Amino acid sequence: MNHTGQKVSLCGWVQYTRETGGLAFVVLRDRYGLTQLTFDKSANAGLFEQAVQLGREFVVRVSGTVRERESKNKNMPTGDIEIIADELKVLNKAQTPPFTIEDNTDGGDDLRMKYRYLDIRRNPVRESLLLRHRMAQETRTFLSKENFVEVETPVLIKSTPEGARDFIVPSRMNPGQFYALPQSPQTFKQLLMVAGLDRYFQIVKCFRDEDLRADRQPEFTQIDCEMSFVEQEDILQMFEALACHLFKTVKGLDIAGMPRITYADAMKFYGNDKPDTRFEMKFVELNGVVKNKGFKVFDDAEFVAGICAKGAASFSRKQIDELTEFVKRPQVGATGLVYVRYNEDGTLKSSVDKFYNEEELKNWAAAFGAEKGDLMLLLAGPTGKTRKALSELRLEMGERLGLRDKNKFSCLWVLDFPLLEYNEEHARWFAMHHPFTSPLPEDMAKLDNPAQYGEIRANAYDIVINGVEVGGGSIRIFDKDLQGKMFSVLGFSPEEAQAQFGFLMNAFEFGAPPHGGIAFGFDRLCSLFGGADGIRDFIAFPKNNSGRDVMIDSPSVIDEKQLKELGISIRAIQ
Ligand code: AMO
Repeated sequence: MNHTGQKVSLCGWVQYTRETGGLAFVVLRDRYGLTQLTFDKSANAGLFEQAVQLGREFVVRVSGTVRERESKNKNMPTGDIEIIADELKVLNKAQTPPFTIEDNTDGGDDLRMKYRYLDIRRNPVRESLLLRHRMAQETRTFLSKENFVEVETPVLIKSTPEGARDFIVPSRMNPGQFYALPQSPQTFKQLLMVAGLDRYFQIVKCFRDEDLRADRQPEFTQIDCEMSFVEQEDILQMFEALACHLFKTVKGLDIAGMPRITYADAMKFYGNDKPDTRFEMKFVELNGVVKNKGFKVFDDAEFVAGICAKGAASFSRKQIDELTEFVKRPQVGATGLVYVRYNEDGTLKSSVDKFYNEEELKNWAAAFGAEKGDLMLLLAGPTGKTRKALSELRLEMGERLGLRDKNKFSCLWVLDFPLLEYNEEHARWFAMHHPFTSPLPEDMAKLDNPAQYGEIRANAYDIVINGVEVGGGSIRIFDKDLQGKMFSVLGFSPEEAQAQFGFLMNAFEFGAPPHGGIAFGFDRLCSLFGGADGIRDFIAFPKNNSGRDVMIDSPSVIDEKQLKELGISIRAIQ
């Protein structure tokens, strides 16, 4: 408002024009928002004519005087003022855009991606990119203050065993040989610790050739960090502080602590290693309560467990049928759903009344800690599968009961992940995090006994926010022999280990400090802060679900000449 009466000059794009009774109104959009320009026919007929002919998205420069608006627009940040224009220059014309440049556009995903530069003109996408910028800036501010140095690591490297497939780049100068793009800078950041840099970070692109989902892109960004002379506690505290700094400076929120839970408890109480802790609804195990009453489904099941949904006894038959259909979907995988309503009048009504009388249902309610008005939902089957299905049901109930508010944030550390996972298909053990992760000291001896591999806990941690795995890391192995042993457990011969990771193991012989670190998924962190479901709008030019950039039409075939130079035969590819 304090600009009223001032002469100003603005550049931007025409959002729309409107004409009434000798006045033309042009709404101009720039990076900062919308401003109304007013052209008065009686003051300057020529300029008025020019204004009414402006098309959508024309690029213009306009000068005029700021005036307080008579009819203020509360929906526009600059809705209290208008510019009485006295000069107008069209800097460039524009075709009508293929979709409306508005918050709720009529453009579908494909169209938006094809014309992403127009999509970015829309407020929600622009805001997402601005948020990302602020997050990156605040990350750099915090880490620099904590003495971390930002170091760039190479992009043309060789395979890092991070679990996904590598993207491969052929080398012209070394025919028949290939670089791999980094799935993460893991080995390099460890080498920087051997190099004595002590505290490293990098906001860095990583590349993984894996199936895509809403929270996965083939190229994504990490806040990658490593520290020397630290133990797990140091890392947890440092990066909890980073998360709190970001919440405070970017969202103005104080995070009330970051609880810790072991992987084993996460699975027991939530059936999930990244539980959404915005709401309780923990699993209650019921084998001891429900068995031996003649209900075969429960009697035969390895595992019976349930959740208690507060205040959901009023769910209709139809809603419960929907939940039953939900758990029976192949992605969820349960065979059926048992429910008990704890009615407001104190009666208990279940779908298995034939087998359990009210007295027995009271025992169930006691096990759940249920109160009048609650709905108990039970699943039965093999332990792992049932936990997974119950986890899905818990999230679905959280959604239906409005407990997954995007403006509420619940952070959690998940600790003590298993070090190794057995893969039936490959008939060997794989590192659950990556092969450089150290076992917990108290589980170290189990590395000598293959029968105990599955019990070894890793000195690894994940940071989870609202059910999203936002980051993960570990305390590393820094001893050559232990690293060699780890590779052997993972099925590498000493020669293979040397050929692939000799550079790291050799470095461990030149005074490697104890070290550990973490990497945050930066895109995921931004999308959480932005309250979005997917990460795409936090990436300026993302790929679609088939890994394509539909704007530049990539990947694409390349010239035969180029292939020849690379020593690649097209027949070999087809
Ligand atoms: P990790 O593989 O757990 O650890 O990756 C760290 C974080 O990166 C994010 N992330 C992704 N985000 C978007 N698209 C993807 N395809 C994708 N894949 C992973 C996740 C994840 O938590 N080098 C180790 C870190 C360490 O040990 O320090 C690593 O890369 O949010």
